[in-house]
Amino acid sequence: MGLAEGKAAFISGVVRGQGRSHAIRLAEEGADIIGFDICADDDAVEYPLATPADLSETRALIENLGRTASLEIADGREYDVVKSVAASGVARFVQEYPDVAAIMQNPFPLPNGLLEPEGVTNSILHLVSDAGQFITGTEFRVAAGFSSRA
Ligand SMILES: NC(=O)c1ccc[n+]([C@@H]2O[C@H](COP(=O)([O-])OP(=O)(O)OC[C@H]3O[C@@H](n4cnc5c(N)ncnc54)[C@H](O)[C@@H]3O)[C@@H](O)[C@H]2O)c1
Repeated sequence: MGLAEGKAAFISGVVRGQGRSHAIRLAEEGADIIGFDICADDDAVEYPLATPADLSETRALIENLGRTASLEIADGREYDVVKSVAASGVARFVQEYPDVAAIMQNPFPLPNGLLEPEGVTNSILHLVSDAGQFITGTEFRVAAGFSSRA
């Protein structure tokens, strides 16, 4: 049985980088994925953001693992839109999984180049698995020791 079997994960910025890595790894471990991404460039960010093609590719990667992907284009700064993406995704999965499950958020872009996405993904997998079920309300740093340097 996968570490995220019977769970659904809600992921922002889901179609590239950290978000996609978390989605694929959690799907490999049995989770269905609810997620959103802006899929367009933004004046506030100095590098190109994801595209609708990234969304299609991410959806296919999840579905190829036999999991369901409820992915939509939405801007995380628009609270009501994000709420409705979450609600429709949860409504879709709740029929199968009354015990829904993992809710998590991918922070928005600040390039730092310190870690590969997979390094963060494995920590998230632990937090959303049953092994992490007693971890609550904790700031969990995943920074490969960089945040401890003077
Ligand atoms: N803990 C660590 O050591 C560590 C390591 C790497 C990255 N990070 C952090 O993780 C975050 C993501 O990094 P990444 O490398 O995946 O970046 P990325 O740019 O590859 O991915 C960010 C995703 O968010 C989407 N996005 C951007 N603005 C959005 C908005 N307003 N609404 C919805 N979606 C939006 C983008 O389209 C993109 O798909 C950054 O904050 C980064 O600093 C942390």
